[in-house]
Amino acid sequence: MSSISIIGLGNMAGALAKRALTGGHAVEIIGRDQAKAEELAAALGHGATAGTFGTTPAGDLVILAVPHAGAVPVVTQYGEALADKVVIDISNTSNADATGLVTPDGTSGAEEIAKAAPASAHVVKAFNTVFGHILARGGSLDVLLAGDDAQAKASVSAFVESLGLRPLDAGGLEMARWLEGTGVLMISLARNGVGTFDFSLDVNLPD
Ligand SMILES: NC(=O)c1ccc[n+]([C@@H]2O[C@H](COP(=O)([O-])OP(=O)(O)OC[C@H]3O[C@@H](n4cnc5c(N)ncnc54)[C@H](OP(=O)(O)O)[C@@H]3O)[C@@H](O)[C@H]2O)c1
Repeated sequence: MSSISIIGLGNMAGALAKRALTGGHAVEIIGRDQAKAEELAAALGHGATAGTFGTTPAGDLVILAVPHAGAVPVVTQYGEALADKVVIDISNTSNADATGLVTPDGTSGAEEIAKAAPASAHVVKAFNTVFGHILARGGSLDVLLAGDDAQAKASVSAFVESLGLRPLDAGGLEMARWLEGTGVLMISLARNGVGTFDFSLDVNLPD
């Protein structure tokens, strides 16, 4: 069992918290609106607690479940409170019409978060290629992840497995930009060839 903190109170936070609680983890929910965080923790039950925004999170793994635009400001506000933590960035960085990325060429949301985080924190990109409503439904899915620190990636992979999901290491944090591009691709697939957001992107090994 691990101790997980989730910053954000929205769809992804709720879906990840439910699966983490089912997986037997201790879950701390954190939001900028304390009353809303306490409400969500109570609704989740199974011992979920509400932490205080901006103070040192209880979890060794800290899931940043806020929109891309808020991610760097939140990490900056936390500052040294994230020292030694494994920070899981789940954000998508799509532009408004999902035809491209809002980040400049040569970087990614995850890399910008890593620059803003304390040097002792390790950022791992994960979960951005999984739709929240599919995650909430249960069942096995592939979770693509990227990061520079082997130990941090191993911790995130073990966490992913404990949720009944399959972690797939895509490489170093420089691969986060392609995972974020994959998030855009998924929206375009939903609007075009797949025709629905009710799908997951999984890797199959043909016989
Ligand atoms: N939904 C999906 O299918 C999906 C899939 C993969 C990845 N993602 C990524 O997951 C992240 C969360 O998405 P979501 O769908 O869960 O969004 P959501 O339902 O809109 O929830 C976003 C949460 O972030 C909080 N927030 C926003 N700006 C903040 C800030 N500056 N400081 C602190 N908290 C802030 C909001 O707080 P308030 O309640 O106070 O407004 C809200 O609790 C996003 O980065 C998204 O790209 C989403």
